[in-house]
Amino acid sequence: MALIEVQGLTKAFRTYKKQPGFKGALRGLFHRKYEQTLAVKDVNFTVEEGELVGFLGPNGAGKTTTLKMLSGLLYPTSGSARVLGYVPWERDDGYRRQFALLLGQKNQLWWDLPARESLELNSKIYGIEEKLFQRTVDELTELLNVKDKLNVMVRELSLGERMKMELIAALLHQPKVLFLDEPTIGLDVVSQKTVREFLRNHNATKKTTILLTSHYMADIQELCQRVIIIDKGTIFFDGRLSEILDRFADSKLVTISCGAAANCQNADLSKYGEVLERASDSIKLKVKRDRVISVCKALLDDLPVTDIDIQEVPIEDVIRQIFAR
Ligand SMILES: Nc1ncnc2c1ncn2[C@@H]1O[C@H](COP(=O)(O)OP(=O)(O)OP(=O)(O)O)[C@@H](O)[C@H]1O
Ligand SMILES: [Mg+2]
Repeated sequence: MALIEVQGLTKAFRTYKKQPGFKGALRGLFHRKYEQTLAVKDVNFTVEEGELVGFLGPNGAGKTTTLKMLSGLLYPTSGSARVLGYVPWERDDGYRRQFALLLGQKNQLWWDLPARESLELNSKIYGIEEKLFQRTVDELTELLNVKDKLNVMVRELSLGERMKMELIAALLHQPKVLFLDEPTIGLDVVSQKTVREFLRNHNATKKTTILLTSHYMADIQELCQRVIIIDKGTIFFDGRLSEILDRFADSKLVTISCGAAANCQNADLSKYGEVLERASDSIKLKVKRDRVISVCKALLDDLPVTDIDIQEVPIEDVIRQIFAR
């Protein structure tokens, strides 16, 4: 049985639509107009134990709503889900002890306490034994490089330091399943890297199952072999990250170096593909996938080419194109 099983999961929000102006507001008191937002529509997927899956989608796609349902914070409108055999929104204590949700956009620690005490409170809530708590905090603060920040008030921590503490808080009870909603948002590149490496290592050694959302493609590329892409509440891709290039990238990048530069610089290259860059000694072309071989042949025949390089379009660009559609 899969560790996470989601079937036909749907969430509709009913929001009150205020009519413009004072009259509208008055009218609204008596005849409320509601609008329905289908945030998540008939979503299906399964995740096996130990997988680290990237959950991607543009703003408002339904990622956070899905993670909140899987954490039991929201009831679905219809559909079903099981995580570790539990129905999340039944809020069984057995489930609560085995998963964690980190919302990068939200502060979950006690703001007015030093980090250590805030963590301690979390550990008391879960009834974690003192020794185990100390050991976990020691280990994780070391790995995340925030050991010297334990006595700082949470409100005074930098964004990155706070996020690392949030992560530690989420891991205190050693959850088997982790829902991470933008755990690297707003962090500088160094901290992003630290958190990424930490997560990769944690997933590999503890076999923790992780569902991760991020708008940073570096996170996804470095951590996830599998991605689920959601748009307007509907899943439209679930597969290996590398498959995205095959399915959605219609072009490749061909870069040629030229011996007699002038010949290349003056040549009309539009018949080969779209010219992206023209440097003094090299030219980068975007060429339709199915034409790459014939275009390379033609380039070698027609021009004094000294080197040729074929590459995939960066996955970041492909995802951006998918979202832009
Ligand atoms: N409590 C709510 N009440 C009404 N509508 C909501 C509520 N929460 C979310 N929505 C709507 O549901 C849709 C999905 O929102 P959600 O937060 O799941 O998106 P997301 O994929 O996490 O986006 P982002 O990348 O911006 O975090 C959006 O249209 C949002 O406005
Ligand atoms: Mg979100």
